[in-house]
Amino acid sequence: MGSNEGAESDVDLALAKERERSRTLREVGLLLDSTVPRDELLERILAAAKRVAEAERATLYLLDIDGRTLHSHATQGGTPTTIVLPVDKGIAGACATTRATINVPDAYEDARFDRAWDIRTGFRTRAVLAVPMIAPDGRLVGVVQVLNRIGQGSFDADDVATLEALAAQAAVALEAARMLATLVEQNRSLIELRARLERSLRERDLLLEIEQLLSRADSLDEFLDGTLAELARECRARAGCIALTDPITGISTVRAVRGVDEPGALLARAVAESSGISHAVAHDELVHVGDDSSPYASALPGPTPRTMLVVPLPGEGGRARGAIELRDSTERGFNSADQSLVELVAANVSTGIELAQARIERERASRLATLGKTLGNVLHDIRTPMSVISGYAQLMPETESKEDRRKYAQSIVRQFALVQSMIAELLAFVRGENAVLFQRVPLDGFFNELADVLRRDLAARNVRVELVLRERGAARIDPAKITRLVHNLARNAADALAAKRDGGTFTITVGREGEQLVLEFADDGPGIPEAVRSKLFESFVTQGKRDGTGLGLAIVKKVVDDHHGTVHVETSDSGTRFTVKIPLQTTQSLPRSSDQP
Ligand SMILES: Nc1ncnc2c1ncn2[C@@H]1O[C@H](COP(=O)(O)OP(=O)(O)OP(=O)(O)O)[C@@H](O)[C@H]1O
Ligand SMILES: [Mg+2]
Repeated sequence: MGSNEGAESDVDLALAKERERSRTLREVGLLLDSTVPRDELLERILAAAKRVAEAERATLYLLDIDGRTLHSHATQGGTPTTIVLPVDKGIAGACATTRATINVPDAYEDARFDRAWDIRTGFRTRAVLAVPMIAPDGRLVGVVQVLNRIGQGSFDADDVATLEALAAQAAVALEAARMLATLVEQNRSLIELRARLERSLRERDLLLEIEQLLSRADSLDEFLDGTLAELARECRARAGCIALTDPITGISTVRAVRGVDEPGALLARAVAESSGISHAVAHDELVHVGDDSSPYASALPGPTPRTMLVVPLPGEGGRARGAIELRDSTERGFNSADQSLVELVAANVSTGIELAQARIERERASRLATLGKTLGNVLHDIRTPMSVISGYAQLMPETESKEDRRKYAQSIVRQFALVQSMIAELLAFVRGENAVLFQRVPLDGFFNELADVLRRDLAARNVRVELVLRERGAARIDPAKITRLVHNLARNAADALAAKRDGGTFTITVGREGEQLVLEFADDGPGIPEAVRSKLFESFVTQGKRDGTGLGLAIVKKVVDDHHGTVHVETSDSGTRFTVKIPLQTTQSLPRSSDQP
């Protein structure tokens, strides 16, 4: 009975021990959570190995990805140490290569054991138990090794079984952790890829916007201003400017400025003086001030430490043509994405500037061409008042009546005024203005004076001048320009009538049709030659005249256009009639008047 009792208690003891071990392993299994950080997981495995095998020390050897080295992780007095050893060295190495458990009761009796480590650390290794960690797919993950069984010197079969069970769990946990890390890594690259795609979309949108700005903008400044606004918004900058550098003097001038806190002008001056811009331009390199410790920060105006990003505008031959400066991001600073965006925009602004300058150059050339044309027109028309002046001047000494001489003098003064208005028109054009000087003109007085001048001028050429005034009152016209129109039509009529032996008549009719002032100029000459009819109002079209330049009717057309009116012509071998219509919307409404008596 006694021995039976003893046997029963042995069985009980063994059962209790077995229960305790599986409980520990279950606990350990729960601890080996593959989502904890890898170092934490290694710590937990080490602690569990020490606990289940009741060992003094534990070491984990993880097989490197190359399959040739083992990286050890151990806890020695709380400080984790790592050593790297070849896979065929030591007891752990033998365990890894054979993929079998090695249980050594006395390490110093085993040739594979290297005492050097003990000598260095002062630890005395006695028993060694090394168990391979093999993943479910059969891959060797590493080796778990425990040293010195507490209480009994060497490790027994139970210890081996327990550590092998732990090693299997640890292998699964480590493998799962590795796969999770790979997934996280892949996820991270996906997130990065998305960020990169978003960035390039943002760049594309901004470049598109800048392109549209360039096509819409009327001036370079408008383009720069719009670009700066877009860029500042995109980079969340609170202020900024674009400065252009004179290639000869090297002086940078702020052309567009944006600032929330400071008045524009103040910021513009401060920015122009900022060493950031001069540095960027002089060295053709980017300046990025992340905080106030930079040497450039001290040069920046304002009460608070600033962040700023200055990017040169690439120019010809590596010489910057200016710079873009952004400052005070509402975020913590400008990041590398902002930086590459500003660089991209800088390149496009440079192209934009080139295109805008080419456009300005083209406009200047076309203005010069038109200037030449206008100069020609004025020189052409100046002949009429000159000949009128000369006519009156010749008449004056032969005229007895003081009253008549006074009238001639008045006419001469008026012709001078006409010449002066032509010169003024030319100068206004040079200044880039195309002024039409609308004035309220009494039609009666204006046309009577005009007819008088023409009568006297054309009398010598045997041409009668008639005036039919169906409309009196006043109209808003440019009197100098309408005078030139009438003179040109009258001269053409006189030229045409010169062929008739008994002279002819030039008739001016002033009337109204609804909301239009209607002026008719008729002659009873031979009509307009067939050859020039289709292109009558073009410059340099002339026919049958020795000294004709072909500008007269082109000037007539220009005056009509300036008055937003129309002109058309009827011609036959018994005469020619030009009809000019000028809308009264732009002119003052005329009081109704009775027909000419
Ligand atoms: N009233 C008219 N009767 C007949 N032919 C005319 C008349 N007006 C114009 N023409 C014809 O139209 C041509 C063009 O006239 P336009 O006034 O443009 O030039 P021009 O009179 O030849 O030269 P310019 O006026 O520059 O001295 C004239 O050369 C002439 O042949
Ligand atoms: Mg003419």
